[in-house]
Amino acid sequence: MPHDSVWWVSVALMGFLAVVFAFVFAGSGEREADYAPLRDRAYRLRTRLFWALVLTLFPAMIYNLVDLPYDAPRSASVAPEVIEVVGRQWSWSLSDTEVTVGRPVEFRVTSADVNHGFGIYDANMRLLGQTQAMPGYTNTLRHTFEAPGTYRALCMEYCGIVHHSMVAELTVAAAQGE
Ligand code: CUA
Repeated sequence: MPHDSVWWVSVALMGFLAVVFAFVFAGSGEREADYAPLRDRAYRLRTRLFWALVLTLFPAMIYNLVDLPYDAPRSASVAPEVIEVVGRQWSWSLSDTEVTVGRPVEFRVTSADVNHGFGIYDANMRLLGQTQAMPGYTNTLRHTFEAPGTYRALCMEYCGIVHHSMVAELTVAAAQGE
């Protein structure tokens, strides 16, 4: 039976551990002085390890923070179109619902009542970007649409019985001259 052998292996290992503990216990308290150099060496090692971590992690942290805020546009050559978005139970109001392909859009999202989730979906219901709509606070969501068509903004956070019908449409037009 495999269970039996597992049992006996466990018993043997536990017995071995008990013997090791007995040895350590029997030998403890005898040579306190022997531990001093060992302890000092461990402390020195610990100090060195601490500074090694500081010198490694601090520059790494700085390096990771230089790109903040991550959603800022890399090039400010094209001014984004700003769309004010207000969520309320149970609709979205957008200051503009027509944008142009290739032009960055900056959604400034807030709420008139409770928390909502502002999510932008393409025609295949693929999520392109989202941020939270919070009362008394404006969250910024930047997105550049790459294809013309009809997009939808859906509420992504349960906000009451008609949550599911918080849908707005956004039309993305082809760029001039195309
Ligand atoms: Cu608004 Cu769910």
